Amino acid sequence: MNSSDSRVIVALDYPDQEKALALVERLDPSLCRLKVGKEMFTRLGPPFVEVLRSRGFDLFLDLKFHDIPNTVAAACDAAADLGVWMINLHASGGRRMMETARERLEARTQRPLLVAVTILTSLSGEEIHEIGFAGDPADNVSRLARLTQQAGLDGVVCSPREAEMLRRDLTDDFLLVTPGVRPKQAAQDDQRRVMTPAEAIRAGSSYLVVGRPITGAADPVEALQLINQEIAANL
Ligand code: C5P
Repeated sequence: MNSSDSRVIVALDYPDQEKALALVERLDPSLCRLKVGKEMFTRLGPPFVEVLRSRGFDLFLDLKFHDIPNTVAAACDAAADLGVWMINLHASGGRRMMETARERLEARTQRPLLVAVTILTSLSGEEIHEIGFAGDPADNVSRLARLTQQAGLDGVVCSPREAEMLRRDLTDDFLLVTPGVRPKQAAQDDQRRVMTPAEAIRAGSSYLVVGRPITGAADPVEALQLINQEIAANL
């Protein structure tokens, strides 16, 4: 595995391998990790993961598993076979689902980090009530993050806006992986409640998932280096 110290995970959200590799060719594993999500993995599968891994990148396989405990544990085991650095599941699958997945990974000599999505940041308060969760989004995020830590997982994916609250509730070594990050000079795109890299780090974020501010930049390497510098100045 690669030993990048960077806190940046570049989200590879492309419709095809050619476009993704055109960017990857310009990046260096010492400068960032990469995230492969449902779209690219469904189109290109394990061979694409292997292409990225063989170039020395640590990979976050963002497939957000949510199913019965045995199925999720088996899926996590299969993901671990791909040699990825981090995988994830939905905390709302429950304690037993999370514990079973964690136990299955712990049986391996080498395992990826396992983190959970609490509440999708795309859900409004009203939508959360509609699916039967009481309280406001922050209460639910907080409750599910605590459950995730009790289940022995390594961390959660959350909005940088939630990071400060979660850092207070949870131990220092619990990972907070935050998308929704925008350097000051970048466009917000469809993200609504964004924070700058500096703000996210100061709020307690462990890793920043950044897509378009890097993938859409005229000079992606320069954009990435500026973010790395901003993070280093705020650690
Ligand atoms: O381009 P951008 O920086 O907005 O990309 C962010 C990445 O993080 C995308 O892959 C998106 O799917 C993911 N993500 C997110 N918000 C969440 C969870 C994941 O933006 N709450």
